[in-house]
Amino acid sequence: MPEIVDLGAYGTDFISDPYPYYAELRARGPVHRVRLPDGTMAWLVVGHEAVRAALTDARINKDWRAAGLGDESVDASPLFTNMLDTDPPQHTRLRKLVAKEFTSRRVEALRPRVQQITDELLDAMLGAPDGRADLVDALAFPLPITVICELLGVPSMDREEFRSWSNEIVAPTTPEAAQAAAEAMAKYLDGLIDGKRAAADDDLLSALIRTSDEDGDQLSPGELIGMAFLLLVAGHETTVNLLSNGVRALLQHPEQLAALRADYALLDNAVEEMLRYDGPVETATWRFVAEPVEIGGTLIPAGEPVLVALASASRDPERFVAADDFDITRETRGHVAFGHGIHFCLGAPLARLEARIAIRTLLDRCPGLAMDTDPDALTWRTGMLIRGPQQLPVRWTGPDA
Ligand code: HEM
Repeated sequence: MPEIVDLGAYGTDFISDPYPYYAELRARGPVHRVRLPDGTMAWLVVGHEAVRAALTDARINKDWRAAGLGDESVDASPLFTNMLDTDPPQHTRLRKLVAKEFTSRRVEALRPRVQQITDELLDAMLGAPDGRADLVDALAFPLPITVICELLGVPSMDREEFRSWSNEIVAPTTPEAAQAAAEAMAKYLDGLIDGKRAAADDDLLSALIRTSDEDGDQLSPGELIGMAFLLLVAGHETTVNLLSNGVRALLQHPEQLAALRADYALLDNAVEEMLRYDGPVETATWRFVAEPVEIGGTLIPAGEPVLVALASASRDPERFVAADDFDITRETRGHVAFGHGIHFCLGAPLARLEARIAIRTLLDRCPGLAMDTDPDALTWRTGMLIRGPQQLPVRWTGPDA
C-alpha cells in the first residue's frame, strides 16, 4: 500500500486555498491514498489525465449499495434514488427521462426571466444607502435558487427551510443533523409532489409526474422525489459559488476585469475561465471501485472509495499553460468543472446562462465594483465538495449608487 497523505495536517489553509496543496500532490503523482480531515480513508485523484480516466472508467461506480457499502438508514431514503447515485442501466434511464428539459435550446427560453430576476436583485442591492453589500446574499445565492425553484414549482415561502436542509446535506455538521435534514427534505418533497399530482401546475415537477419516454417508461414515486432532490440541491449549492468565486477572481485581477469591461465578446470565455480557475465543485461526489483498477499507475483495490479532485485537474500544468494564472482569453477547453463522462453536469447550460447574465448585468450596473474586505479575511464553505466564500463583501460607486 502506498504512503498515506494526511489531508487533515494541512489545516484550515487547505480550505481557504487548496491549490498549492494539490500542486504539491500532483508533483508527487496523479493518485494518492489519503486520510480526509474527518478521518475517512480514500483514494484521491489529482492529475488531469487520471481524473478524466477515473470519471470514464466503468469499474469505478457511483452506487454505493452495489459496491456493498450500504448503510440501511441512508439506503432506504428515496432521495438517493437519483441519477448521480446510480450507474447504468438505471442512470441511463433516469437521465433520459429528464435530459430534454435541460438542453441549451430549452434553457435559452428562460433568458428573459433570468434577466428579470437579476435586475430585481440588483435593484434591491443598489438601493443600499452606503453603497455596500454582501454579494453572496444579494445576488449569488438568491438568483440560482429562485430560478431552480420557479422551474420546478417550489413555493417561495418554503425556500429558506429548503436552504438549511440542503446546506446540511451537502456539508453536514453532524451525521445525525444530516440524517434529520434528509428525512425532512424527503417528507417535504413527498407532500409537494402529492399536491401537484392532485392539481398539476405549469412547472417541471408537474411535467415530470406526467412524463414518459417513447417506451412508456415513467418515474416511480420514489424516483420523482430523488429527481426533485437532486435538481434542487444542484441548483442551490453550485451556481452560487460560480458567481461568488468568479466575481472574486475578477476583482482580484483588475487587468482581467478591465479587459472584460472593454470587450463583452470575452464574456462566455471569461465564465469558462472562472469555472476552470476556481470552480464550485472541488471534488466530484463519492465513487467506489467495483473491481481492482489501475489509474495513473496506481492500483486501487476493490471496494475502496475514490474522490476525484476536479479543482486540481483544472489547474494541472500538464494540461493548461500557466495554469495558476487567471486569464479570460486563454483556451479553457478540457476544464472539468462540470465533471466528465456519463455524469457530466446536466445543468451546465442553465448554470452558464445564469452566470453570463448575472456577471454582465452586475458589471454594467456597478462600474466601480470592488472588494470591500481584505481577501485574506474571507471565510469559506467547509468540506471538500463545494468551494466558495461564505460572504463576499463588495462596494461600488457606479451610476446607481
Ligand atoms: C456552476 C454550476 C454547476 C457546477 C459547477 C456543476 C457541477 C457538476 C458536476 C461536477 C457534476 C458531476 C458530479 C460527479 O460526477 O460526481 C454535476 C452533475 C449534475 N449536475 Fe451540476 N453543476 C452546476 C449546476 C447545476 C444546475 C444549475 C443543475 C440543475 C439543473 C445541475 C444538475 C446536475 C445534475 C442533475 C447532475 C447529475 C448528472 C448525472 O448524474 O448524470 N447542476 N454537476
